[in-house]
Amino acid sequence: MIVNKHRPLSPATFVPPDLARPAVRLATSGEAALLNSTTAAAAEKMFAAAAADGVIITLASGYRSFTTQRATYGSYVNSRGQAEADTASARPGYSEHQTGWAFDIGDGSGADAFTPQFKDRPAAIWAKANAHRFGFVVRYPWMLHEITGYFYEPWHLRFVGKEAAADMRARGIGTLEQYFGLEAAPAYL
Ligand code: DAL
Ligand code: ZN
Repeated sequence: MIVNKHRPLSPATFVPPDLARPAVRLATSGEAALLNSTTAAAAEKMFAAAAADGVIITLASGYRSFTTQRATYGSYVNSRGQAEADTASARPGYSEHQTGWAFDIGDGSGADAFTPQFKDRPAAIWAKANAHRFGFVVRYPWMLHEITGYFYEPWHLRFVGKEAAADMRARGIGTLEQYFGLEAAPAYL
């Protein structure tokens, strides 16, 4: 399931049928602590491997319903205006968070959370180097916003499976759009 500014969820109010709460360190609660069952199982393995390497990763934001994303996006629009909001937050019905296949990580400190500087935190450095071993990719890489539609999000991971994640890394392909031969989606149609 590839979701971007050209590929909304269908139906727009889609709810994953197998939402589950992973046994990981949580920095959120309620629906945001849920992932789909495949992603939850992979996240458990990845967070445990990071911890074994001495790196704390927290689940900061997982599943978001259509209604929650409407509120999230709306608060971005209210504070920054729509043009800037669209570089950082998906419109309702267009967020990977609604698929259950994606989540945001933190490091338990709150420092640099959801800012570009998060890339220099141990959790982000570890995830960038190791996430593929557990089937994850950093979905919105640096300087690829003309393809993905969003500025760099070193905290946002997407499950694609170990084979695809390793293949993307080996071939130096940064986005799912390029990997699957889809058109770039810098803006809404
Ligand atoms: N921040 C990502 C793009 C989302 O809102 O789904
Ligand atoms: Zn995210």
